[in-house]
Amino acid sequence: MQVPLLDLKAQYAAIKNEVLAAISEVLESQQCIGGPKVAELEEKIAGISDCEFAVGTSSGTDAILNSLMSLDIGPGDEFITTPFTFFATVGCIVRTGARPVFVDIDPATYNINPELIEQAVTNKTRAIIPVHLFGQMADMDPIMEIVNKYNLAVIEDAAQSITSTYKGRKAGSIGTVGCFSFFPSKNLGGAGDGGMVVTNDEELYNRLKIMRNHGASPKYYHKFLGGNFRLDPIQAAVLLVKLPHLDGWSEARRGNAVFYDEKFANTVVKTPYISPDCVSIYNQYVIRVLKRDELVAYLREKGIGCEIYYPLPAHLQECFKHLGYKQGDFPEAEKAAEQVLAIPVYPELTDEMKDYVVETIMSFLC
Ligand SMILES: Cc1ncc(COP(=O)(O)O)c(C=O)c1O
Repeated sequence: MQVPLLDLKAQYAAIKNEVLAAISEVLESQQCIGGPKVAELEEKIAGISDCEFAVGTSSGTDAILNSLMSLDIGPGDEFITTPFTFFATVGCIVRTGARPVFVDIDPATYNINPELIEQAVTNKTRAIIPVHLFGQMADMDPIMEIVNKYNLAVIEDAAQSITSTYKGRKAGSIGTVGCFSFFPSKNLGGAGDGGMVVTNDEELYNRLKIMRNHGASPKYYHKFLGGNFRLDPIQAAVLLVKLPHLDGWSEARRGNAVFYDEKFANTVVKTPYISPDCVSIYNQYVIRVLKRDELVAYLREKGIGCEIYYPLPAHLQECFKHLGYKQGDFPEAEKAAEQVLAIPVYPELTDEMKDYVVETIMSFLC
């Protein structure tokens, strides 16, 4: 049996006609930049995120970069974030000229450990970027306490966590801005790259809109140095077709997670810990095992897709050498990088496929 990590063909088969019709509508209109599809998606994503405003962007990376540039972040500023994240979080900070200051993770949730944040605050700290990893939001209350005490901005990297909640509050709605990715493997994924920023701050919203168009307002008169961070209307059209399915897909992922949780209970496989404050959308189902690299080879041999998110924490990446961090600085992130493994959790998985995944993992470990 073959069980890929993700099967987008199965998803596409179920909505193919609607997707093709939506793309055709954009092509027929020849409104190839901006337009009603982008505006409609922005309104709907703001709505499901409990935010007033949303600005479509060309990717999740550009959602973060646009946010940083719109907040006027740059050289001399420090950003507190987690080293255990996808590269983009940290890459964007460094691209603005600001300095990322890392704080280790909570080993249970893999999200930034709020207890370690305050000691990292200096008079240069401008903002905190919590990353809501794998579909679960970071512990936002203690983070917001520090933010309010030191008057900082918060950029929620919610690329993997659209519609997930913390104490009933939606990802992206607690901080200054929230950033989503529509990379195809996300719970809401386009037919290519896309992203969005949500906010309740109207002034910032206006800046984000101008910034994504090279900082021009009016056209050809540039207030700020921005970029081309625009969301493609063909992507918006595809995402509008998929959006009504999002909750059902996330629910199916949660069902698959429960299945695995039960099967792996009382075994050596450490299953994901979801805080009682959170509802996860399980963009990934990440287990933790000791002989991880051997298990990866075994699963691949048996036709099971799996992936390591992430094998090297940000503070140890070659391109961030100049920041001066070293092995041992963030032991929990480093240990997680050696032990985590994402296994298939996508909505279309059958019980037979999940059973095969569980049996294969157990036959290797026992
Ligand atoms: C945590 C995190 N941040 C940022 C991004 C960047 O999003 P994109 O790939 O859409 O640029 C991703 C997605 O891959 C992500 O997982």
